[in-house]
Amino acid sequence: MRFLFGVIFGILLVAVGAAAYVMTGSYNTAATIPPGKTEKELATYALNKSVAKHAPNRRNPLSADPETFRGGLAHFRENCVVCHGAPGVDPGEIGQGLNPGAPDLTLRRTQARSDGELYWIVSEGIRMTGMPAFGPTHKENEIWQVVAFLRHLPGITDEEKTQLKGATEEAEHHEEAPPPGGTAKPPHMHAPGTPPHKD
Ligand code: HEC
Repeated sequence: MRFLFGVIFGILLVAVGAAAYVMTGSYNTAATIPPGKTEKELATYALNKSVAKHAPNRRNPLSADPETFRGGLAHFRENCVVCHGAPGVDPGEIGQGLNPGAPDLTLRRTQARSDGELYWIVSEGIRMTGMPAFGPTHKENEIWQVVAFLRHLPGITDEEKTQLKGATEEAEHHEEAPPPGGTAKPPHMHAPGTPPHKD
């Protein structure tokens, strides 16, 4: 009986401690604080277990040919390179501020995953990280194109690199915008009937 009380008391103490930690604002939610080793290992473990349980056991139904890669590249350029970068292509500013960071997809961690696992991750996303779910906005066929492109990623051509570089440079276009009060004014609209004016 005393043992049971001890256990219950212990659990309560931990719960109160955790609540106080959160309620006093001591838990820092800033993305600038790198995750600890244990947090990282636990999150990777949970991700791998979840992927293994949910991913379909399927091979990519598309063949790895230039046509498929072209489709995959278009989606990767639009949706992925900003966070993940690519060989010879740095991620954009969004990717550089992520916590947890978006991994280099040419590494073994990713390339060792099965087609079905990659499909599931891209389709469903990874909760509580920056990794979005693309299933709600893309057709099954398009996601398989992306999976094929992920396999091709370690060996992309210089031409493909140039195309991907263009995407992050366009996203950072604001750096070249004139300073506030500069000469270029954004276009503006008026309600019908507004008399003409200079600026
Ligand atoms: C807004 C940023 C962001 C975008 C956009 C994004 N990702 Fe991610 N992605 C992440 C982050 C962050 C992780 C790591 C999550 C973690 O640590 O578990 C991740 C993880 C992944 C993984 C798992 C890596 C591994 O093997 O553990 C794959 C695969 C992946 N992303 C593919 C893609 C593809 C393909 C696209 C585009 C269709 C994409 N991502 C777009 C942020 C992003």
